[in-house]
Amino acid sequence: TGPDTVSPTGQPTGADQARMAQSGSYLTNAQGTRLYDTDHSLKAGPRGPVLLQDHHLREKVMHFDHERIPERVVHARGAGAHGVFRSYGTAANVTKAAFLAEDVETPVFVRFSTVLGSRGSSDTVRDTRGFATKFYTSEGVFDLVGNNIPVFFIQDAIKFPDVIHAGKPHPDREIPQAQSAHDTFWDFVTLHTEAAHHTLWNMSDRGIPRSYRTMEGFGVHTFRLVNAAGETTLVKFHWKPKLGVHSLVWEEAQIINGVDPDFHRRDLADAIEAGAYPQWEFGIQTFPDTPDQTFEGIDLLDPTNIVPEELAPVQPIGLLTLDRNPSNFFAETEQVAFHVGHLVPGIDITDDPLLAGRLFSYLDTQITRLAGPNFPQIPINRPHAPVNDMLRDGFHQTAVHRGVAPYRPNSLDGGCPFTAGADLGAYVETPVRVPEATKVREAPESFNDHFSQPRRFWLSMSPPEREHIIGAYTFELGKCYEVAIRERALQVLANIDPELCAGVAAGLGLPAPEPTVPLADVQPSPALSQVGRTWPTD
Ligand code: HEM
Repeated sequence: TGPDTVSPTGQPTGADQARMAQSGSYLTNAQGTRLYDTDHSLKAGPRGPVLLQDHHLREKVMHFDHERIPERVVHARGAGAHGVFRSYGTAANVTKAAFLAEDVETPVFVRFSTVLGSRGSSDTVRDTRGFATKFYTSEGVFDLVGNNIPVFFIQDAIKFPDVIHAGKPHPDREIPQAQSAHDTFWDFVTLHTEAAHHTLWNMSDRGIPRSYRTMEGFGVHTFRLVNAAGETTLVKFHWKPKLGVHSLVWEEAQIINGVDPDFHRRDLADAIEAGAYPQWEFGIQTFPDTPDQTFEGIDLLDPTNIVPEELAPVQPIGLLTLDRNPSNFFAETEQVAFHVGHLVPGIDITDDPLLAGRLFSYLDTQITRLAGPNFPQIPINRPHAPVNDMLRDGFHQTAVHRGVAPYRPNSLDGGCPFTAGADLGAYVETPVRVPEATKVREAPESFNDHFSQPRRFWLSMSPPEREHIIGAYTFELGKCYEVAIRERALQVLANIDPELCAGVAAGLGLPAPEPTVPLADVQPSPALSQVGRTWPTD
């Protein structure tokens, strides 16, 4: 049960409402005692020493001293907005999730972010952008914690500390603040060629969006949907901006970094305030849930892979509208806690090893960032569905729980009622067959193809997009001190495409190497290009 002073929608009520408004005809201390002066410390005479007994000074400064909480270990800089998601009902045949039935409105909170910069870094850097959505559904919270790039640097979460250590500022100089132009990043992504695809997207115009409003979003992993009959379908989630996909060019991005480091958060807030509500269509690509979990030869458990939209069209299933700015950045945007394990009946996970690590990581980090295990009670994180858990006590507990028997079975608190079964709306894991296997620290053979997907992306680009990509690699690699890293990067590019490699090599003044693997025989996917896209459809 939640705290007494909060309505089911997470809004404070009664005395709590007045306290949160911080308004009234007189000021009080935190205990509600009226103050007559909060501008002067208590002193032994106007020019005398400040007295230790000044309990008001002590309380005021103590609280100020603890105003900051740790920034997120990644995605520290972000901007959020409230909105509403309206479902079309077109996914109702593949999922029983209530919020995806026909014409259901669900409140949402979305947080966009950069990945590598600190809280105070600037918006228009070259980086991946986070696109995290909290759906407050009638069946509990569903979080889709996605990015604006549909693939990831690594295939296994055990490498996440490595990729982030390599991408974050150098430990000695704290350089750079938010860009990938440095040796450790390029060292990592050229030694781990599974990163080649995500890196190529970063070096494309997708790495410098024009606005949060003009970004696509992707769930990245393959998820498993379950319908009322228990049938399963594998899916990839997509957000398609109604305004289309638009980027900055590098020179614009650099100038804006200096002129207005808050460019993206300002753009989002101003648009919402002006009533130009940003909208995205929610879509799914669907794949049969076959035992090998591949589609047209593409391994669906490998998060460095996309499935071209020409092979599996994105089917629209709902509309997201962001229509309200946060009233308090700290309370909402900073304290929101997303987690890939926040799922509702009808949406399940797959065995993607990157997803598995994320299922552990988010709650773990939030225990530190939000100081204890009770962050689900923070208003922005509260479900809009009734909560009847057996969780008790802990730091920052705000609920006054009743009942003396928070265990089950028991014979004291009415036996602690329990309902089970998918037919009663419970979340029941899909009974997926796990093949008989031997315990190993290994990746499957199918995870070894690191170049065909980046090659498809490159081949899908229009001439100006290719020019931008070559310029981006040349600029970023030009910032590496180690020539060996630049040379290794050229080898990766040679394995993607000779024209790409030759362009960057010319820019760096280095010879272009020959490919060390045969060039993949892949077809372009026009939907990957920002030029001539078919979305939005209306
Ligand atoms: C935060 C996306 C992989 C750990 C975030 C956020 C997003 C995101 C959007 C920001 C959430 C917010 O706005 O509050 C992704 C995507 C991934 C990925 C799309 C790959 C497909 C991983 C992996 C790990 C990880 C593999 C760890 C093993 C974290 C952590 C945070 C975070 C610790 C900070 C969360 C917080 O402090 O609340 N991620 N991430 N992520 N991610 Fe990931």
